[in-house]
Amino acid sequence: MDIVSITTAAYIVASLLFILALAGLSTHVSSRNGLAYGMVGMAVALLATVALVIHDSTGGNGTGNGASIVLMLVAIAIGASIGLWRAKIVEMTGMPELIAALHSFVGLAAVLIGINGHLDKETYALPSLANIHEAEVAIGIFIGAVTFTGSIVANLKLSGKMKSDPLMLPGKNFINLGSLVVFAILTVVYVAGSDRSTTQDIVLVLLTALALALGWHLVASIGGGDMPVVVSMLNSYSGWAAAASGFLLNNDLLIVTGALVGSSGAYLSYIMCKAMNRSFISVIAGGFGIAAPAGDAKDYGEHREIQAEAAADLLANASSVVITPGYGMAVAQAQYPVAELTSRLRAKGIDVRFGIHPVAGRLPGHMNVLLAEAKVPYDIVLEMDEINEDFPSTDVVLVIGANDTVNPAALDEPGSPIAGMPVLEVWNAKDVIVFKRSMATGYAGVQNPLFFKENSQMLFGDAKDKVEEIIRHLPA
Ligand code: TAP
Repeated sequence: MDIVSITTAAYIVASLLFILALAGLSTHVSSRNGLAYGMVGMAVALLATVALVIHDSTGGNGTGNGASIVLMLVAIAIGASIGLWRAKIVEMTGMPELIAALHSFVGLAAVLIGINGHLDKETYALPSLANIHEAEVAIGIFIGAVTFTGSIVANLKLSGKMKSDPLMLPGKNFINLGSLVVFAILTVVYVAGSDRSTTQDIVLVLLTALALALGWHLVASIGGGDMPVVVSMLNSYSGWAAAASGFLLNNDLLIVTGALVGSSGAYLSYIMCKAMNRSFISVIAGGFGIAAPAGDAKDYGEHREIQAEAAADLLANASSVVITPGYGMAVAQAQYPVAELTSRLRAKGIDVRFGIHPVAGRLPGHMNVLLAEAKVPYDIVLEMDEINEDFPSTDVVLVIGANDTVNPAALDEPGSPIAGMPVLEVWNAKDVIVFKRSMATGYAGVQNPLFFKENSQMLFGDAKDKVEEIIRHLPA
């Protein structure tokens, strides 16, 4: 069997392993196996590609030279070292911004592969094949460039280096739609132009600049609360960018993997939009149709405070408690004392359950992972829809580092940037204790009227310290 057939077979095996990986990642029980399939698949794909390059470079198809091997090994060494270093130091809360940065690399790679496809044209027997190649170059560069700058903006917004408010340029929908029309025209001009003419070069530069600006504008136009959808949407775009590169490089594995990432990312975005009551089309079109929020600061009155000792008393006298964790629990790493508090209360015969909002924290399933890590029994961890009806019959709700996901403004204030998003209706319980360090807003940057309700009390301080203090004050 020749090396090309072996590589093709290895690519099919890798593709199947990637499909098994996605299937495994769909439930928490099978997710470890899913990750293992993905890692083995990636190792098979890498080995096969390296073998092919070595074969070509040592004259296997009569075209290569040894420099390609050296270049490839240097690239692998640099990439692997940076990847290992970042993966080791990244905090769980920093994952979305790291993922956004990785998406930007996929986009950049697609742009470079597209430019290479423009400079290095093969001779085709039929002119129509050359036209298809040119269309692939234009589409590949466009998707790659949108993914590149869009992911950079997502990274800056998620890491707090750029404000998370939506950019509201006048006529922003027109800018987005107009850019697509101009892209279509430039592609037609590029494909119709004569090979490697100055006009073709200029058209490609214009098309790249347009796509870079569009990617920036699309993501800048989306507000803080919708960022989870943006990250999964960019995941999808990066998949399509990889698939476009696969067509240019004639690499079946890239086409299959890109399509898998592209479609699964699009489906995840759709699920998240449903969970957040957002229009899928509106979000992927850069906040299409979303009006600027009314920016007036409302006066909600005074808030009340509680100390850990009184909170412990309140809990000890309750018969039902619901804990709604959010991003602050992850920051404080409070899941271990929260798990201990849960078991102490349950030992007293108090019914304790958790209510998890679909976008609590900074990545899908963030809270579930933290609670599983601290060994909180899975059967008391409920989804938002499963617990929302039970708040009126709950004695005490502990809001631990959550803010946007428990904000009543989402239901009561149509002008709010998070209006329409379903939230955990914690204010319907008898008493609510909110653990946070200050009166600061949450990720979406909007004030939370929950903090000023009659039945709410603020417990200020680091969530981990405060939960530990409550445990110390719990009557034996
Ligand atoms: P957020 O609205 O982000 O609020 C978290 C709160 O935790 C903050 O108000 C902060 O208040 C508090 N906090 C931070 N560190 C703390 C600490 N050490 N101890 C105690 N409290 C602390 O949280 P959420 O309710 O989980 O909502 C998530 C938000 O992130 C949503 O807007 C969502 O759209 C967005 N988002 C989600 C994802 C995914 S996929 N889950 C991805 C990106 C963005 P203080 O500063 O006053 O302490």
